Amino acid sequence: PKVSLTGIKPTGEPHLGNYIGAIKPALELAGGAESIYFIADYHALTSVRDPELLGRWTRSVAATWLAAGLDPERTIFYRQSDVPEIFELHWVLSCFSAKGLMNRAHAYKAARDRNREAGVEDLDAGVNMGLFNYPVLMAVDILIMEADLVPVGKDQLQHVEYAADIAGAFNAVYGDAFRLKIPKAVVPTEDSGRTLPGTDGRKMSKSYGNTIPLFAPEAELRKTVRRIPTDSTPVEAPKDPDASSVFQLLSHFADPATTAEVRARLEAGGMGWGELKDKLYVVLNEQLGPLRERYDALMQPGSELEELLAIGAAKARRRAQPVLEQVRKAIGIGG
Ligand code: TYM
Repeated sequence: PKVSLTGIKPTGEPHLGNYIGAIKPALELAGGAESIYFIADYHALTSVRDPELLGRWTRSVAATWLAAGLDPERTIFYRQSDVPEIFELHWVLSCFSAKGLMNRAHAYKAARDRNREAGVEDLDAGVNMGLFNYPVLMAVDILIMEADLVPVGKDQLQHVEYAADIAGAFNAVYGDAFRLKIPKAVVPTEDSGRTLPGTDGRKMSKSYGNTIPLFAPEAELRKTVRRIPTDSTPVEAPKDPDASSVFQLLSHFADPATTAEVRARLEAGGMGWGELKDKLYVVLNEQLGPLRERYDALMQPGSELEELLAIGAAKARRRAQPVLEQVRKAIGIGG
């Protein structure tokens, strides 16, 4: 059977984009594949420097997976930092990762572009080696678990391609002794997935500060939805649903019949943005309410969260150890 793997970085509270882009598709894949899910807590260290927040967000991502329906018995579910084998293999594979490839990585290039736009002379200012090495660590996450499929949003596609590239570079040298499995990204298709817009119409992203948290309390959820900017088209005027991020958000969460009905009403005129936002709030609350209860329970101190993560870490290490062992043998380390 195929093995699927995906991770989320705890750099903030999980948001609707993570849910639609990664969590939901990954859990749907679980039916047909052996599945592995993890919290990429060491990845977050490239930017999160508050120990309290790093801990809280890590628990929050873990609780989100479970609340969304992950079955810890049937899957492997762990914190990246609990699997030391990952960090040993990280060194090995960094020796097979072309620096030029990393120079072209999106996140690194974006950091340099920001400096260029701000007129900062040293384009690498503020870039730490963690950010630069980020794709290598992500490749190891994938390769050490011998994943076939990696369900991710479009923004992570390049990273999965890098993982395949790095595995290929290793295999080209040691392939007769041991081969790393070449992974494939599974990106939601245009109509099912798309990139979810945030409250300002740009891609919903923690770094843009435009996210709608998945499990915000009702009052906060309502307020966030109300604050999504819309234009001043009058209530009675016809509107283009596809140009509206509120409608796009709705279409991801409402059933097809509701979505079609709202689309028709917007196009005909007579439905205002305020009513559309209220509808979005109601649909989100209906869908997420039951999950939120389970999430809140898991976030209580003394919940079963830590125990589940410990069980998951043991399973993950059992899977990673033989891969690392074979790599060490193939390269001639450790006798
Ligand atoms: P992260 O934590 O930024 O995002 C987690 C997942 O959510 C998807 N996503 C979105 N999808 C659609 N619309 C959006 N607005 C949106 N925002 C985020 C992302 O594509 C991602 O799939 N580097 C990864 C974490 C990681 C990882 C891995 C993933 C580390 N190692 C190994 C897969 C396999 C990241 O930062 O995702």
